[in-house]
Amino acid sequence: DWEMENFTEKEVNRIRKLVGDKAQVIGAVSGGVDSTVAAKLLKEAIGDRFHAILVDTGLMRLNECEQVKETLQEHLGINLTIVDGSELFLGRLAGVVEPEAKRKIIGGTFIDLFEIEALRIEKGAENTPLAGKVEWFLQGTLYADIIESLSFRGPSATIKSHHNAGGLPARMQNGEAQLKLLEPLRELFKDEVRSFGRQLGIHEDLVMRHPFPGPGIGIRIIGEITPERVEIVRRADHIFISMIKEAGLYQEVTQAYAALDTNRAVGVQGDSRVYGYICILRAVTSLDMMSAEPYEFSWTLLKAISRRIVNEVDGIARVVYDTTSKPPGTIELE
Ligand code: XMP
Repeated sequence: DWEMENFTEKEVNRIRKLVGDKAQVIGAVSGGVDSTVAAKLLKEAIGDRFHAILVDTGLMRLNECEQVKETLQEHLGINLTIVDGSELFLGRLAGVVEPEAKRKIIGGTFIDLFEIEALRIEKGAENTPLAGKVEWFLQGTLYADIIESLSFRGPSATIKSHHNAGGLPARMQNGEAQLKLLEPLRELFKDEVRSFGRQLGIHEDLVMRHPFPGPGIGIRIIGEITPERVEIVRRADHIFISMIKEAGLYQEVTQAYAALDTNRAVGVQGDSRVYGYICILRAVTSLDMMSAEPYEFSWTLLKAISRRIVNEVDGIARVVYDTTSKPPGTIELE
């Protein structure tokens, strides 16, 4: 629509003016709508002087890293660096079971790797005569994120320590970098970001994608995160989401995922006894993520999903569906 078109042009011009014709900008991308829209906007405004960094935590979904690469680099032409941190993340997480400890390790490792890469880009920039220093840090913060983080300062404090790129600028300022914060989406609501994304030529699948938390499937594996358990969750999640899409329900559901319990259960497959993990499925509808209701799938579909997961994913013996509302539950398990 007209207002959005106007917004794109205005925003591109504003960024060009602000950043100037030499300075460079870095920003973390996740493959989600917000960071992709922000990155594409920067690409439009200053081209390759914007550097997107994707940190592969080893906790992303099946083939997700490759998909982000294809979309951002090949389709949207964004200057993207992928940092493969999977071994480091899984190494630091070995033996850790406590949810907040997991979140802190994932958030901290993310910042460590991002900083190393940002400094590498800075060094590279010094040797590129046409471009200037890295002076800005891009963040895809929305209006709702600002409201939410304000309310987190209240007496109810933090229920969970949310991980996104939020801690970065402060840390980077203590280093050599002295980065200034660029938040082009900070006055927008989610639906505005989506129409903005369409306008910037971002594919509908990505524009309408469910949210995915920064700590990834790390907070969807109860107990210890091992490479084997990550693989099991990935495969179950892929089947669940594919079947929701095939049933035409993806847009009706706000967020859905498969998770893994620590406990195992007995089952029979063919003629043999199996002893495998319990897979937990969660799907919710929500307007603002502050409250949510479990999605009411048809019994037939839910059973078909269970059957496929148990049949196709080695290591899973049972599938259960989480019927908890938020509150008292939360959307994620940890
Ligand atoms: P909860 O579990 O708090 O989740 O009901 C509400 C929404 O926030 C997402 N979420 C996160 N997003 N970093 C993120 O970027 C996080 O650490 C994080 N934890 C939860 C969750 O997926 C849901 O959409």
